[in-house]
Amino acid sequence: MKGVILAGGTGSRLYPLTKVTNKHLLPVYNKPMIYYPMETLINAGIKDIMIVSGRGHAGHFLELLGSGVDFGVHFTYEIQEKAGGIAQALSLAEDFVDGDSVTVILGDNIFQDNVKEDVADFNNGAKIFLKEVPDAYRFGVAELKDEKIIGVEEKPKVPKTNFAVTGLYIYDPEVFDVIKALKPSGRGELEITDVNNYYINKGVMEYGILEGFWSDAGTFESLLRAGMLVKQSTEKDFLE
Ligand code: DAU
Repeated sequence: MKGVILAGGTGSRLYPLTKVTNKHLLPVYNKPMIYYPMETLINAGIKDIMIVSGRGHAGHFLELLGSGVDFGVHFTYEIQEKAGGIAQALSLAEDFVDGDSVTVILGDNIFQDNVKEDVADFNNGAKIFLKEVPDAYRFGVAELKDEKIIGVEEKPKVPKTNFAVTGLYIYDPEVFDVIKALKPSGRGELEITDVNNYYINKGVMEYGILEGFWSDAGTFESLLRAGMLVKQSTEKDFLE
């Protein structure tokens, strides 16, 4: 199993915080944002990890994370020239993944759960992770029927459920052919939701429901919230 952290994109929703630095280098409580998705992959037992970042601040990721030796893993770096969408960023990892399965995590997603078992048990098809949220319209939203996932809608005005599709995905090697066949969405991006719907329609998508907290950190509100959740969880760990 390979790991990929997607840390491209423009961070425009956090401007001017992102005027001279990259969104994923901003602090979430006591660590740079990218540490959290990195730790999620490492805690899942993944040792070979690619970091895809945009131009401009790529050197800062290298400076911050290095070869991976400090974390007991190995990092590979790739550049996404333009923010062409999450699926387009993932396509850049094809040679690195080299026919293995891949766990993909968004660089602005903060997870409390450990997904080690999900990664170890994965065979083929795909797996996504859902979280019940009060503001599902901000995310990809899962449609469920008799506990089966029957579709994902990207940022629907009227969500069919409260289950957000979080930014953590496990795919078999077919994912790169799936991305090659995608057409850009209305916002001009190759959408990860289209990839997920491919696997759902093929009948090989599994899902898990997260128990711990989850937050994105790409808006002022969610960045603040993510920091608060991390702070509360470290205080709880300290008290226990
Ligand atoms: O946070 C989970 C949500 O992330 C999912 O529920 C949605 O289905 C998914 O589309 C995505 O929604 P956003 O619109 O919030 O994604 P955003 O454009 O903020 O990008 C999230 C991360 O993905 C970003 O921190 C870095 C990476 N990314 C994004 C784009 C557009 C790239 O690496 N390259 C890109 O071109």
